Amino acid sequence: MEVYKQMNDYTEEINRRRTFAIISHPDAGKTTLTEKFLLYGGAINLAGSVKGKATARHAVSDWMEIEKERGISVTSSVLQFEYGGYCINILDTPGHQDFSEDTYRTLMAADSAVMVIDASKGVEAQTRKLFKVCVMRKIPIFTFINKLDRDANDTFDLLDDIEKELGIATCPLNWPIGSGKEFKGVYDRENKCVISYSDTEKGTKEGTATEIMLENQADLRQAIGDNAVDRLLEEMDLLDGAGAEFDLDAVRAGNLTPVCFGSALTNFGVEIFLKHFLKMTTTPLPRRSDIGLIEPGENQFSAFVFKIQANMNRAHRDRIAFMRICSGRFDAQMEVRHVQGGRVMRLSQPQQIMADDRKILSEAYAGDIIGVFDPGIFSIGDTLCMPKEKFQYEGIPTFAPEHFARVRQMDTMKRKQFVKGIEQIAQEGAIQIFQEFNTGLEEIIVGVVGVLQFDVLKYRLENEYNVEIRLENLPYEHIRWIENKDEVDIGRLSGTSDMKKVKDMKGNPLLLFVNSWSIGMTLDRNKGLVLTEFSRN
Ligand code: G4P
Repeated sequence: MEVYKQMNDYTEEINRRRTFAIISHPDAGKTTLTEKFLLYGGAINLAGSVKGKATARHAVSDWMEIEKERGISVTSSVLQFEYGGYCINILDTPGHQDFSEDTYRTLMAADSAVMVIDASKGVEAQTRKLFKVCVMRKIPIFTFINKLDRDANDTFDLLDDIEKELGIATCPLNWPIGSGKEFKGVYDRENKCVISYSDTEKGTKEGTATEIMLENQADLRQAIGDNAVDRLLEEMDLLDGAGAEFDLDAVRAGNLTPVCFGSALTNFGVEIFLKHFLKMTTTPLPRRSDIGLIEPGENQFSAFVFKIQANMNRAHRDRIAFMRICSGRFDAQMEVRHVQGGRVMRLSQPQQIMADDRKILSEAYAGDIIGVFDPGIFSIGDTLCMPKEKFQYEGIPTFAPEHFARVRQMDTMKRKQFVKGIEQIAQEGAIQIFQEFNTGLEEIIVGVVGVLQFDVLKYRLENEYNVEIRLENLPYEHIRWIENKDEVDIGRLSGTSDMKKVKDMKGNPLLLFVNSWSIGMTLDRNKGLVLTEFSRN
């Protein structure tokens, strides 16, 4: 009886969890929107208290600001808040495509994603890849087109842009009426009413929006004017003929994104979006493992590590492993198995990060994200489960680096710090490191997915490890692991003159190429050689 009751308690807790990642290009309004969500949830009392980011402008400086504020800013944390009986976990993602790998890992821990787009910009070049990564993950994506209180692009163009750039169909749940000074509100397609816009107090919770049914034409015309009504009717005609039908299954499969329009700053359309979103998202999803699907409610505790962040608290030089709980209930007192490490242990200092506060927690449920102190034992993708179990969650793919540089340290006396720093940063998954195939550690080559990661590496080595480095760009753009390394004599491999032989930190040989033509040429010249784009171990 007791067991049954316990199971029931969990299930209820798990079923009210909603875990999503929020993704946007810098400045589109992610922080503002998150802040408004928290405001509705009562987690904060006044907008603006989450984070003052007036100084954060450029993406690099943005990241560096974040560095300074780590642990206290929305931008690098996982937030939990309650709203309408739901327990919501928001996972923040970096706002630049150079960090798309980091975003992908975070998406692995989420069950859905919210994509924030600036209505005057549409899908921007620097976030195209980031958003594509989001679509790749095949989880439901909800789009919030923001800043309608400013002049916006044509609504059809905005939707077209998303469809063409990201290859996902759109279904507007509401429709903006004008923008900028002429912004009159939105038309709610489901309820067939116009919600008129009023510029509310920026930090307050509720605006004074009024609802007028579309059929109530006289009132509507009086409220928003003839031109606005005529245009809306015209656009609705067009949309009904052209737009995708709403289909919840397509949303859940990640093939159709519901779109809402609004203005996070003036708090218009935010709560409606949140409500729609909560209605359509799922409870924590089952996850694939090597013993099959693990259902959140039917299994005891299990989790996987999706992010490792060192030096979050500079005073303590700590390292936090973030894990997503996939099933059951976590209790701080319980022993768990770290499958990859082959150890049974208690997790140290499990915590939840909330705005400017870190809270040590005693329990958490499937769907929640917890951070635990990591003495250097966890790797991204590791599984934790009950001591009697021993399964592994499906791994998190590593993106092939596209930019390479040779790293030279300025002060050779600091070799130890340098190696420690660069290895730790590599363990976090921010960079990948390689060595010349035939030499020792002297020459380190760094590979990154986005060039901004080079800046981050330099900045962090200087600030966290007190090591100055110089990066020398290398012309390589493609990397290939040697699948049949045991059958191939690497020393005798004959490639093109611009090919480079290196090895990764596990000693696996791999080849760097300047262009794809050289890859083909090398394969031609070395019969039986099998190259792969991914490392399998
Ligand atoms: P991000 O996290 O996606 O980078 O964006 P963030 O929320 O920080 O917003 C970027 C800027 O856009 C901020 O202005 C913010 O106030 C503004 N903003 C956000 N939502 C809206 C909106 O709906 N309408 C308008 N007009 N502006 C919006 P800032 O001047 O850079 O910062 P701040 O000094 O206001 O904090």
